[in-house]
Amino acid sequence: MKEPFRINRRKFLAKAGASAAVTMIWPFFSSCDSQSSTTAKPELGKDFQPDIDLELKAVQRDLSILSGSKTKVWAYEGKLIKGNKEALQTLEGTYLGPVIKVSKGQKVRIRFQNDLPEESIVHWHGMHVPERYDGHPQDVIDSGETYIYEYEVMNRAGTYWFHPHPHGRTGPQVYNGLAGLLLVTDEEEQQLNLPQGEFDLPVVIQDRTFDDNNQLVYLENGQMGRMTGFLGNRILINGRPEQRLNLKAGCKYRLRLLNGSNSRIYKLAWEDGSPVTVFGMDGSLLNAPKELSYLMLGPAKRADVWLDLTNKPEGTELTMKNTSFPLELMSGGMMGNGGMMEGAKSVLPQGSEYPVFTVLANASGSNDYTLPRQLAQPDYIDPSTARNLNAPRQFTFAMGHMEWTINGRTWETTEVADEETVKLGSTEVWELINGGGMMDNDDDGGGMMDGHGMMGDGGMMGGENDMMNNQGMMGNMMQMPHPIHIHQVQFNILERNVTDVDPQLWDAVKDGFVDEGWHDTVLLMPGMSAKVIMQFKDFKGLFVYHCHNLEHEDMGMMRNFKIV
Ligand code: C2O
Ligand code: CU
Ligand code: CU
Repeated sequence: MKEPFRINRRKFLAKAGASAAVTMIWPFFSSCDSQSSTTAKPELGKDFQPDIDLELKAVQRDLSILSGSKTKVWAYEGKLIKGNKEALQTLEGTYLGPVIKVSKGQKVRIRFQNDLPEESIVHWHGMHVPERYDGHPQDVIDSGETYIYEYEVMNRAGTYWFHPHPHGRTGPQVYNGLAGLLLVTDEEEQQLNLPQGEFDLPVVIQDRTFDDNNQLVYLENGQMGRMTGFLGNRILINGRPEQRLNLKAGCKYRLRLLNGSNSRIYKLAWEDGSPVTVFGMDGSLLNAPKELSYLMLGPAKRADVWLDLTNKPEGTELTMKNTSFPLELMSGGMMGNGGMMEGAKSVLPQGSEYPVFTVLANASGSNDYTLPRQLAQPDYIDPSTARNLNAPRQFTFAMGHMEWTINGRTWETTEVADEETVKLGSTEVWELINGGGMMDNDDDGGGMMDGHGMMGDGGMMGGENDMMNNQGMMGNMMQMPHPIHIHQVQFNILERNVTDVDPQLWDAVKDGFVDEGWHDTVLLMPGMSAKVIMQFKDFKGLFVYHCHNLEHEDMGMMRNFKIV
């Protein structure tokens, strides 16, 4: 069998791209592994007969987003080479990539061409694919190169997505526009009468900041912004600034929400107080729809929300808003306090109240889609089949010495610890723990500032070092939420432990988590831990797990696990 095209460069990459000049104050390491780039011609698997064959090109583009100057963006452009034409749906007027629609059991070939000025690789978030098609950071290709993905769709019906995964550059590349939806359907879903076509609607939620010349601004707060994660000062829906969905009164819709933001967390509620009806999360439909007063949606999470406009007159407007939760101190909002960070104040603090999108019924129609009381048959993992139900593997996500760490370690391209090695065919419980900041759990006191001089560099603090003496404040800031994502698997969430979560915060978010179904990402509020159960099947190899706050991920809050 022909080995598909693959480049192994095994080196740490952190290059600044042309139009996304990220200020790297952070000391980073580049290994001088010289057995680098084997440039080969991309080859197609000879025995692989794709049902869908497409080209996906990452390009730089000028796009009209705001009035006035065009915005430089990076975007995925798709072209169907073979397959039913519904398989690739291009969204107009946006940097977002095409919506790729596939069915379970189909064989898909994707020819990724990198026309960016820097290295990249595509990852299929949530998909169960062999190692070489997962988009591991070591598989980055250079500008001008092509990487061939060939895999069979093995996932359940659900909302998946794709985005770049080069180490150290995922945040800026996604921010510049590289992301798209990958929708999987299966027989079970096809037997339901769920909305299709124009009534099956992508709603990608992101935040961005534009400068006076309409150009995207990333991490203007420098190092502090990387520690907390990027927060933009406005919301874009499907890459558009209007924050509006033009829909038809009399119709029912499936809203495919994706939180495609780098680090922003949403607490979504309909402004008129009607419940948010959720019927799918990440990698599956739920067993039954769930009505919530609000929905928590951390970075990378997807949710299927039912919207019924049948009894609404034309002209109806309905706003989905973000409602408040007390996390502001830990995010951009804190920079406004004490005037230490001139100009760094977020106008849209994490956890504040703001509109996210407005549904406008500006036409009428009808359809007869229904939301059944029973959706997917529950096929969840029986916890008693886990080899370690009572002694789960523990992974603590925390601030180390000015680094984001997992069990005290940071990213190494191919390194795997013993505790990160699992057996093919096994069922395991992992306990994912948000361990907070080291101000709280390190005895040597103030060690966080040792040796790195973060505050001294770049003039960020304007010579004002008082903040460093205010341990409470620093300690608080490092109590960040971490949305934890595991590649290769979909898991079930067994339980959340919230005893160490600030009661006020917990109270404000507790009704918004949907833990039923199959997930690939779990949002951990500060102090929270969650037990998740998963099976390692079909594929051996090296995969990653990480915090999906993309700035945390880029800073090294990512590790390999190996299936042997
Ligand atoms: Cu969506 Cu490894 O990420
Ligand atoms: Cu992923
Ligand atoms: Cu994080």
